[in-house]
This record gives sequence, C-alpha cells and structure tokens, in this order.
Amino acid sequence: MIAEFIPYAYLLAAVLFILGLRQLGSPKTASRGNLTAAVGMLIAIVATLVDQGIVSYGVIVGGMVVGAAVGAVLATRIQMTAMPQMVALLNGFGGAASALVASAEWLGYLRDGAEPIGYVPLAIVLGVLIGAITFTGSLIAFAKLQELMRGAPLTYPGQQVVNALLGAGTLVLAGVLVFAPLQPEVFAGLVLLSALMGVLLVIPIGGADMPVVISLLNSYSGLAACATGFVLGNSGLVISGSLVGASGIILTKIMCNAMNRSLANVLFGAFGAVDESAPAAGGEDQRTAKGYTPEDAAIIFGNSRSCIIVPGYGMAVAQAQHAVRELADVLEKKGIAVKFAIHPVAGRMPGHMNVLLAEADVSYERLVEMDEINPEFSETDVALVIGANDVVNPDARTAKGSPIYGMPILDVDRAGHVFVVKRSMNPGFAGVQNPLFFLDNTMMVFGDAKGVAHAIAEAVQELI
Ligand code: TAP
Repeated sequence: MIAEFIPYAYLLAAVLFILGLRQLGSPKTASRGNLTAAVGMLIAIVATLVDQGIVSYGVIVGGMVVGAAVGAVLATRIQMTAMPQMVALLNGFGGAASALVASAEWLGYLRDGAEPIGYVPLAIVLGVLIGAITFTGSLIAFAKLQELMRGAPLTYPGQQVVNALLGAGTLVLAGVLVFAPLQPEVFAGLVLLSALMGVLLVIPIGGADMPVVISLLNSYSGLAACATGFVLGNSGLVISGSLVGASGIILTKIMCNAMNRSLANVLFGAFGAVDESAPAAGGEDQRTAKGYTPEDAAIIFGNSRSCIIVPGYGMAVAQAQHAVRELADVLEKKGIAVKFAIHPVAGRMPGHMNVLLAEADVSYERLVEMDEINPEFSETDVALVIGANDVVNPDARTAKGSPIYGMPILDVDRAGHVFVVKRSMNPGFAGVQNPLFFLDNTMMVFGDAKGVAHAIAEAVQELI
C-alpha cells in the first residue's frame, strides 16, 4: 500500500528541488530556496526509508549518525574562507558514494551469478567510472586549495598523450564490462584507471582555475548519482542527480565565462601555467609602491563625489564586511555616492562577496556586476579596493603568458584615485605581482582590511 505512494513522493520531492533551485537563483529568495529543497530531500529520504527493499535499518541509522556527526563537526569548524575546499570534499564524497553503491550492486550480481540486463550494466559502469574520477579529482582539488600540494599546474612532457592513452584504456575496459559485466579483473581495472584519471586530469590545472574545476566536479558528482539511480531503479536519485549534473555544468559555463576560458582550455591546457618567457610573476619588483595613511585617504574623499568599493578575498579573511558597510554609510552621509563592484570570481567561491555583504546588511541594489560597473570607473572619483588583487590586475588585459591573461577584470585603474587596502605587497591567489600598485593614481593603505576600513571611516568623520 505504502509502496504505491513512493513514486508520487519522489515526484513531489523533484518538484520541490526544481522550485528550490529556481528560488536559489536570486539572493532575495535564496534562503527560502534552500528550505524548499531541504523539505524535498526530507520527503525523498522518508520515501526511500519506507521502501520494502530495505535490508537493514540498523546499518542505515548507523551510517546516518556517523555521517551527520562528521558533517556537523566539519560544517561548524570550517572557516568561511575554506569553503571551496569543503565543497571539493563534499563533491568527492558524493562521487565515492555513487561508485560504492554501483560497485555493491555489481558485487550482488556477481555473488548471485546473474548477469544484469538492459541498461543496468551501462549504468553500473558509468556510476563507477564517473564516481571514481570525481572522488580522486576532488581530493586533488582539495589538496591544492588547502595548500597540501602546490597550487601551480603540475605538468610533464607527453602529459596529453598519457592522458589520452589512459582515457582510451578506461573506455575500452568500460565497453568490455557493458557487454560482459561479471569479470572481476576488468572491473578492478576500471576502478583503478578511473581513479588514476581523476588525479591526472586535475594535477595540470592551476590554482586560479580551481573555481571551474570545483563546479565541474560538482556536476560529475550529480551525473554519478544519476547513473547510480538507474542502477537501483530509484527515480528520486535519477532526478536529483541530473539536477545537480545540469546545474553544475551551467555554473561551470558561468565560471568559464567569468575567467574568459573555454572548458577545453581548462581541462586540457594546463590552465594557469606560467609562461617562462613572461615577465616575472610575484617575487621582487624593482618599482616602489607608495604607502598612505587612512587620514590621507580621508583628505582625498573630502574632494570626491563618488566611490566604488571593490571587495576581494582579503575582506573575507579580515571579516571586514561590517566595517566596510559602516565606511560606506559614513561616506554616503558625507554626500559621496557609493556602489559596490562585484567580480564573479572575487574571493574563493561563487557569490562569496554577495554572501559576506548580505551578512553585513548591504542591500542587493547597491551591488553592481562587473560588466555593468566597468564603464563607470572612468567617471568615478575613488575606487576603494578592499583585499582584492587578481580581479583588479591590469596585466590580465595585456600580459600574454601571465596566468591571469584574458581574465576579465574590474577596471579600477581608470578611476580618478585608487586606494588599495591590503597588508603587504604579497600577490593574490594567482601568485602574480600587480602593476596597479605602482600606478601614479594608486595609493596603497597597508594594514588589515577591518582595521583600515574602521580607521578611514573615523578619519572621514573627523576631517570632512
Ligand atoms: P586575491 O587575488 O586572492 O587577493 C587577495 C588579497 O587580499 C591578497 O593579495 C592579500 O594581500 C589580501 N589580504 C589577505 N588577507 C587580508 C587582510 N586580512 N586584510 C587585507 N588584505 C588581505 O583575491 P581576489 O582579488 O578576490 O581574487 C580571487 C582569486 O581567487 C582569483 O584568482 C580567482 O580565480 C581565485 N579563486 C576564486 C574562486 C571563486 S569561485 N571565487 C575560487 C578559487 C579561486 P596581503 O597578503 O598583502 O594582505
């Protein structure tokens, strides 16, 4: 009797997932979207738990308790700035879970000596193949982001040929298994080659391109879950997996556009590699940047009518969003029009700046996307860069061979005055020095973003 309602429960869950995704599309409705999708997931979980095919509730409850405990500890301990690593790990675990479930089903067929039929062998192979690639690829992405290994692209002669041969070998094993599934040696070979492929595909990708890789791996984890849904004949898993796969690939496309790269370039181009013939990246620069005080900045603000604030990763590190909001309020009280410019990959995760500024109650109307704000810099008196670096590096326009060459940037250098707030001359995520700091109209205000934002606000209050 209950079993008859299960497909309807999955259908309802799928509708809620889609509605939730729709609501997640706008910052205003995003938290409602989260809740809608979570209710959908609860319905899907309950429907799955009442399924007649359940073998052991004890094992399920044990798994849920252990998983929830580990997840809760990780989620509460993780710094906001380490969110990309966390997402990479979660993608990897999703891939591993799909590969394990598909493998368990395959083992069941092997034990019973019954060949799977129809689309099931293909689904098992895809679940294992994509799941294993996602798992090991995500672990490498995690290690790079956590700085457990070098973020720079790891390349070696003949890399593309090795990857092509490995890809061909994996496809051959996959093809063999689709037609004759119950061969343990071939199955083990497929698992090993897929896992190796995940590692080799991600090591040549440079740190600056990690946003693209993470969203792509997110998409893969969805596709692996979808394939496993076909293995189990579970429509809820098929639908939720394909939603993750599709939304992940859309996010990947958005990230590629934001970095001005093609997906093929990211995947096969040792993307983020530094051309040795290019000007020295990072390291020592012979020029000297000029350091100024918050009071100097306040004097410039005294003669200004407009300001565009450009937040970056340093604002997140310093947790300076509240101080920056207060500074914006002070400037507006003094008659200076303030806007916030949002670069799509500022920070370390999609929407990072939006989330932080929303937390500090900056209204969404004041946040302006890169394409819209760029023409305004040349008519703006002051660009105030708070802990941003790569996303305002003019080398991205001209320095061929730079790892960020071609990435669209915020045109802060075209403003009347540029204040750059950061602690030192250290480079940003891409590891390259920024010529912006040496321009005549640039004034460096060294210090922690939170302290400096406070100090400028105080100086503006007193001096203007
Ligand atoms: P970055 O280029 O990483 O520069 C951040 C700057 O903040 C650093 O130069 C650092 O200089 C400064 N900083 C750090 N802590 C600070 C503090 N407490 N107070 C003041 N300044 C501080 O940041 P960005 O301009 O936002 O660019 C983002 C980069 O990350 C891009 O290369 C992007 O591709 C990459 N990335 C983005 C994502 C996503 S999806 N957004 C994911 C992974 C990677 P000091 O050390 O001198 O203070």
